[in-house]
Amino acid sequence: MSATAPRATKAVIPAAGFATRFLPVTKAIPKELLPIVDKPVLQYIVEEAAAAGADDVTLVTAPGKDAMIDYFDARADLDNALKAKGKNEMLAKVKAPETIAEMTAIRQGGAKGLGHAVGRAASHVGDEPFAVLLGDEWCHLDDKLLPRMIDLQSETGGIVLALIEVPDDQVSRYGVAAVRGTDADDIVEVTGLVEKPAIEDAPSNLILIGRYVLPGSIFPVLEQTEPGSGGEIQLTDAMEAMRANGTPVHAVVFRGRRYDTGEPVAYLQTLVELASQRDDLPGFNAWLREFSATLD
Ligand code: G1P
Repeated sequence: MSATAPRATKAVIPAAGFATRFLPVTKAIPKELLPIVDKPVLQYIVEEAAAAGADDVTLVTAPGKDAMIDYFDARADLDNALKAKGKNEMLAKVKAPETIAEMTAIRQGGAKGLGHAVGRAASHVGDEPFAVLLGDEWCHLDDKLLPRMIDLQSETGGIVLALIEVPDDQVSRYGVAAVRGTDADDIVEVTGLVEKPAIEDAPSNLILIGRYVLPGSIFPVLEQTEPGSGGEIQLTDAMEAMRANGTPVHAVVFRGRRYDTGEPVAYLQTLVELASQRDDLPGFNAWLREFSATLD
């Protein structure tokens, strides 16, 4: 491998979905702003991008979800009220989202699929490599998945994905990769990609999680991509077309901590796990132990 591409410094976060699994609350609150105690899911994701050096972030949004933009903006009345009361620690927390990243928001213009949402960032990203982070899953910063993916992409100049292994009965819910090993034990070469296959057609149990590092050359391919699974323009289909045409595709097989907030049970697990690790919620773990003991 040779150094063929600059490092990705931009990130795209598709966050335009209706979040039907969380209705009715998502009628008024974007899923991406659901709280993990006192910090929204989306802040974790923007922090992950920025920590990996991709701090120029494009949020792809939809009508009714402007609260996401407000969250990363200054709020003078609140700042002044906190200052007047001398609540400086809280003021610092409130102001933190304003400085994590340089945020840009664009509207998707219709629920036409993940590939379509990513394609909407074309004019902002240009032909540079960029990261895509889905708005409802994130990985622990200390496990350094995204930095490893960005390093690998700058070596190959191609597509870099992240995979985890799941049981057979879950493969049909995801993009699935056929792979072959490389010299590095957590990196594989991807030899095929398919979006939401039937169990019997899945090439492996390795599914795509919501992290991608892509070359800017994917944008014209996305424009040509026809609707696929679910009648939507699929990112997986565009990546598979590039792979078939010779673009190198690699993946990091991730074994670190991943938090999924895309559906209610996984959201609750994330919430309880992260709350139990905090030392500023006195009594929570003692209650959790007692409560667990009452369950059969
Ligand atoms: C999307 C992708 C899929 C990927 C999944 C990860 O699916 O299309 O390939 O495995 O995210 O969460 P969605 O969850 O939008 O149906």
